[in-house]
Amino acid sequence: MHTAQKITKVFITRRIPQEGLKILSQAGVCKVSLWDSDEPVPRAELLKGVAGAHGLLCLLSDKIDTEVLDAADMYYTVISTLSVGFDHMAMDEIKKRGVRVGYTPDVLTDATAELTVALLLATARRLPEGVVEVINGGWSTWKPLWLCGYGLSGSTVGVIGLGRIGMAIARRLKPFGVKKLLYSGRTAKSNAAEVEGEYVPLDTLVSESDFVVVSCALTPDTQGLCNKDFFCKMKNTAVFINTSRGAVVNQEDLYQALSSGQIACAGLDVTTPEPLPTDHPLLTLKNCVVLPHIGSATYSTRGIMAELSANNLLAGLQGTDMPSELKF
Ligand code: NDP
Ligand code: DGY
Repeated sequence: MHTAQKITKVFITRRIPQEGLKILSQAGVCKVSLWDSDEPVPRAELLKGVAGAHGLLCLLSDKIDTEVLDAADMYYTVISTLSVGFDHMAMDEIKKRGVRVGYTPDVLTDATAELTVALLLATARRLPEGVVEVINGGWSTWKPLWLCGYGLSGSTVGVIGLGRIGMAIARRLKPFGVKKLLYSGRTAKSNAAEVEGEYVPLDTLVSESDFVVVSCALTPDTQGLCNKDFFCKMKNTAVFINTSRGAVVNQEDLYQALSSGQIACAGLDVTTPEPLPTDHPLLTLKNCVVLPHIGSATYSTRGIMAELSANNLLAGLQGTDMPSELKF
């Protein structure tokens, strides 16, 4: 008697680099269905796509909640996210259902740290303002008091969340002549000695730093961490940089701090929502530099992320060890 062969189905929520797709097609173990667009999959299509799928490859912009998990019925074995951050997924619910999760730590650390340094320098030295002045004719002559900013040499830098990326940022900033490197988080880090990092309470970090860099994960504890109280403790000459997640910052409070001169300037690679509406008050401020969440955006990093997330997905489908499994 002929028995119907079970087809393993996976759904990918966006067009991803070819490197990842190639791995999945060459493996020949699953039928891939792809939302073949650079734009996010509409919710209804996501729910349709996951129905009956055994695996899901998603992005940080996809909300993976109970509704999505329910829509996948009983088949789900693995979710692979093309990101290191996992705050877009209902982890408690995922755990309850015994679904394995793959993610992309380490491979994007260098690119994100590099972008953070670029954003810090661009913000502190007012590069976007300078570029605009050159284009619009505001550059009349060399002026001793024009477009001055803040330098890293001799400064105190505070890193909130000295994890993989926080540490990579610290390593890159130290050679600029940073005098003191403070960090805060839930635990002191044994590798902090490499950057002469000093573990301090958050309040100390906020009030003593010339540059405050946020590189922690978004969790219930860090949500809204950078609020009015936080900005009030910062120096008036301090620079605030966030490349973690937008929701770590209370943006109304940040706007007040920037517009009132409570802090000097801010550079954000991440916002709430994303994209930030073009009429958002933060975009009216010269002392706020906003980037469109491009921390890991180098060609090679995105290719490697795609490979890793494809390999995580395959391992999840086959019940083998994942190259990067999230343990939770
Ligand atoms: P890690 O897990 O290595 O680091 C996360 C850090 O967050 C840890 O040092 C942890 O400190 C800290 N943290 C957790 N809870 C708190 C808390 N309550 N207060 C202060 N710190 C806390 O992750 P990565 O370094 O690889 O990535 C960090 C984040 O960066 C990601 O979660 C993601 O959101 C973001 N990201 C953004 C990118 C971009 O494009 N802008 C690119 C890649 C990542 P402790 O160990 O003490 O708990
Ligand atoms: C992540 O991986 O969490 C980033 O935000 C994008 O690379």
